[in-house]
Amino acid sequence: MRTSLLRCHSIVQSSTVRRHLTRILPSTRLFHRSAIMSSTVPASAAPSAAAPAGRPLLMIPGPIEFHPDVIAKIGEPTPGHVAAGFIEEYGRSLELLRVVLRGDGSSQPFILAGSGTLGWEIVASNLLEAPARPAPGEKVDAAAAADAPATVLVVNTGYFSDSWSDCFRAFGHRVTSIAAPAIGDTVQADQLLVALKANPHVKLVALTHVDTSTGVRNDIQTLAKTVKEFNKDIFVAVDGVCSFGGEVYEHSAWGIDASLTCSQKAIGVPPGLCLALFSKTAMEFIAKRSTPVPSYYANLQRWLPIMNAYEKRTPSYFATPAVNLIRGLRVALGHLEAKGMEQVWNEHKKTAQAFKKAAAALGLKEVPTAASHSAFTLSCLYYPAVSSFDVSKFLPGLVSNGVVCAGGLHKDIKARYFRVGHMGYSVLNELAHTPQAHVRQVVSALEKALNGAGAGVQEGAGLQAFDDAIKA
Ligand SMILES: Cc1ncc(COP(=O)(O)O)c(C=O)c1O
Repeated sequence: MRTSLLRCHSIVQSSTVRRHLTRILPSTRLFHRSAIMSSTVPASAAPSAAAPAGRPLLMIPGPIEFHPDVIAKIGEPTPGHVAAGFIEEYGRSLELLRVVLRGDGSSQPFILAGSGTLGWEIVASNLLEAPARPAPGEKVDAAAAADAPATVLVVNTGYFSDSWSDCFRAFGHRVTSIAAPAIGDTVQADQLLVALKANPHVKLVALTHVDTSTGVRNDIQTLAKTVKEFNKDIFVAVDGVCSFGGEVYEHSAWGIDASLTCSQKAIGVPPGLCLALFSKTAMEFIAKRSTPVPSYYANLQRWLPIMNAYEKRTPSYFATPAVNLIRGLRVALGHLEAKGMEQVWNEHKKTAQAFKKAAAALGLKEVPTAASHSAFTLSCLYYPAVSSFDVSKFLPGLVSNGVVCAGGLHKDIKARYFRVGHMGYSVLNELAHTPQAHVRQVVSALEKALNGAGAGVQEGAGLQAFDDAIKA
């Protein structure tokens, strides 16, 4: 135990790991973070039957637990990126991305090595013309630049909308945003319409489907319709990092121009892939841009021939694809296709609603202000408002009971709530005898950890509510 904590302590010294841990566990101390990084759980706190042997279940809002077939495929020896078998797997994955995100035949899929953040960058650099750069020696009128009209409208529901806005600014775009009236609320269509009218130079509206920092699901269909009815030439880009594969989504039928996500959430593959689907109109814009795409790796003009080649089952090269991850993706997307997206979405909905009922039975209040917009892929729950509750014992208490959950993330409330991911393999758990076994284990751990932290909840009440809802 001591050796493993020391090992983890040195891992935590890395600034990247520190930043990530601060995101998932902002309110715990380093010792607890180290314990959570540990691959071994103290023997006295061994996880119960549903957890994989020797380690706690990863129930944060991504990365998630992955299907063993996906992990096994990724672990196979790497074939060459132009080997016939791999060309077939890459080509089929591109086709399946259309199936999972519901793109029609004219939509263009991209599968690139990277993460969800690369998706933001692809949108910011490809779907907007870059503002003119000053010529060498040219004097910049800072005041005029600051007053330039906004070309991007971000519908902001939390942490990740702020970051996407920063990404647009990094490419020199002027950004305006609208926020929900309160944390946990959504932006309504009439609010969006007012903002569109007030910002006549907007060329792109950026939406987040499920906000990972609040657990809010935005009504993408209605918001996209509002934009397109106002002006069909305005692009709609959707961040589906925490929703695609778990929430109802219709890329083409809803008129979306750019849908982006990554591998490590409800898609069901370890981190390392950026997935995107672009509309025909968006691809035509990219082909005819009057300014160069201000990026090298993220330039879709370079990637389009590669994607086309693989879809036609011919080899091509711009930069080496993430061969093993793409092979895993082929398996994961195949699982979703085999089950059928309606069934996949229904299973997420059913498990999420059962989990939320269990949380309510334990007296936990959700961050989303209404059940109608509370996400099916994660839950954001306020800590109990009782003075005896010791938050510093709570997340480590969950780990001791076999599950890792995440701390709060939204800057205004982050010390007051925690987050539980319930998506992908943990929801569509074919191999377990009881579907939803992982999520049920979170409920069991919650009861114990809440009481261990002084909440005084009735043990068994959460499990009862969960089981009743699953049976209903
Ligand atoms: C909604 C949302 N968008 C974007 C990102 C960034 O994705 P990544 O960390 O894969 O770069 C995240 C990460 O969790 C997210 O939840």
